Amino acid sequence: MRIALIPGSFDPFHNGHLEVVERAARLFDEIVVGVLPNPSKSAPLFSAEERQAMIDEAVAHLGNVRTVAATGLTVEVARREGAEAIVKGLRAVADFESELQMAQMNKNLSGIDTLLMPTGPAYSFIASRLLREVARLGGDVSDLVPSPVAARLKKKLSQ
Ligand code: PNS
Repeated sequence: MRIALIPGSFDPFHNGHLEVVERAARLFDEIVVGVLPNPSKSAPLFSAEERQAMIDEAVAHLGNVRTVAATGLTVEVARREGAEAIVKGLRAVADFESELQMAQMNKNLSGIDTLLMPTGPAYSFIASRLLREVARLGGDVSDLVPSPVAARLKKKLSQ
């Protein structure tokens, strides 16, 4: 059984994330989507439980994908879940430097390899930070996120 972990802060999970999960789900027997805190980002809009629930709904059509919410090191989550690889999406060259550094750190910590998967060009401009900003300012991002995320984003920002 070949398992891969797709870690991220997913605040919120968007169509670019979903595309990577769908493609990885065809390459591995099982995908674990790990909702993890990113210590270099400010306080999230959605709680870890809310993010996990949104992802569960967004990946419900995929039979070999499950989600976990965790704290601590990504490599510890990977070990715990039996993942032999970490998969991360790569939108543009701008992502490359930090993803390469994290991949090498995670390899050094655990021996676990990271596979960087280029996102489809239709998704390369989508970023959770921009989605939050546009949605907060009243812009419509519903074509860029799975429908359960669009609904929760609307609800969250109307509170
Ligand atoms: O979606 P993001 O914010 O780019 O994901 C980054 C994330 C959550 C994968 C990264 O911050 C992370 O791995 N956090 C867990 C703590 C950890 O393992 N830090 C060392 C990374 S080399």
